[in-house]
Amino acid sequence: MLTVDGISVARGRTDVLRDISFTLAPGRTLAVVGESGAGKSTLIAAVLGLVALSKGDITWMNRPVRHCRPALVMQEPRSAFNPALTLHRSVMEPLRAGRLPGDPVRLTRLCDGLELLPDLLERRPSEVSIGQAQRIGILRALIATPPLVLFDEPLSALDAVTQKHTARLIADLQREEGFAALIVTHDLGYAAAYADEIAVLQAGQIAEMGPAQDFVTSPKTAYGLTLREAAFALGALEHVA
Ligand SMILES: Nc1ncnc2c1ncn2[C@@H]1O[C@H](COP(=O)(O)OP(=O)(O)OP(=O)(O)O)[C@@H](O)[C@H]1O
Ligand SMILES: [Mg+2]
Repeated sequence: MLTVDGISVARGRTDVLRDISFTLAPGRTLAVVGESGAGKSTLIAAVLGLVALSKGDITWMNRPVRHCRPALVMQEPRSAFNPALTLHRSVMEPLRAGRLPGDPVRLTRLCDGLELLPDLLERRPSEVSIGQAQRIGILRALIATPPLVLFDEPLSALDAVTQKHTARLIADLQREEGFAALIVTHDLGYAAAYADEIAVLQAGQIAEMGPAQDFVTSPKTAYGLTLREAAFALGALEHVA
């Protein structure tokens, strides 16, 4: 279980995250939504121990999160990879780091599910499209069966059909393997369809948090309502409301 207990994070003189608390159990999905600059990526960085906490504590099963080797899908797909290495090398890195054997069957299944032709992996990051790089980032995150995966806008560079296939693959693997998923997304339709809970982050604080379906039918705050209305206007919630 991921336990985020009363954390704050300061950047310069301001708190960009304030008094955030939640838990996320294995096999469960929490979607974090909220406007640009609200602190979503900072929350992921905090969970990974990449920024200092000015208050509070974050643990996985009562130990520091790094012990569980959490995986990250970064928001900027191409800069997520070392430009000097082939993508194959980067994708295999979590296996090397964990001294785990590679499983060719799993690699093939992930590549098929993500619609990645294996020879793409022989290229360098600058030689693939942004959407391909995004899916290769998901491949790298999932290759070593991590217990906790942090996704920062994992579908943002994909067309609608590929988004749907990719979301299904992530959900299928999660059902089989039971990893906990924290997914930052601007896509409320995706959050409503795939997350158990939705947390709305506003100016560094959780404005509201609860079961995903409750948020779609009856947001509790004015800001939540604004977000939901905007998603409806874009047609993103038609299928789930
Ligand atoms: N290295 C940094 N130094 C100072 N301030 C920072 C730094 N990184 C982020 N911030 C600030 O922290 C706040 C939260 O940023 P963050 O990247 O977490 O937002 P976000 O919710 O992920 O936004 P987006 O949806 O645009 O990705 C913003 O006001 C941002 O300007
Ligand atoms: Mg961000």
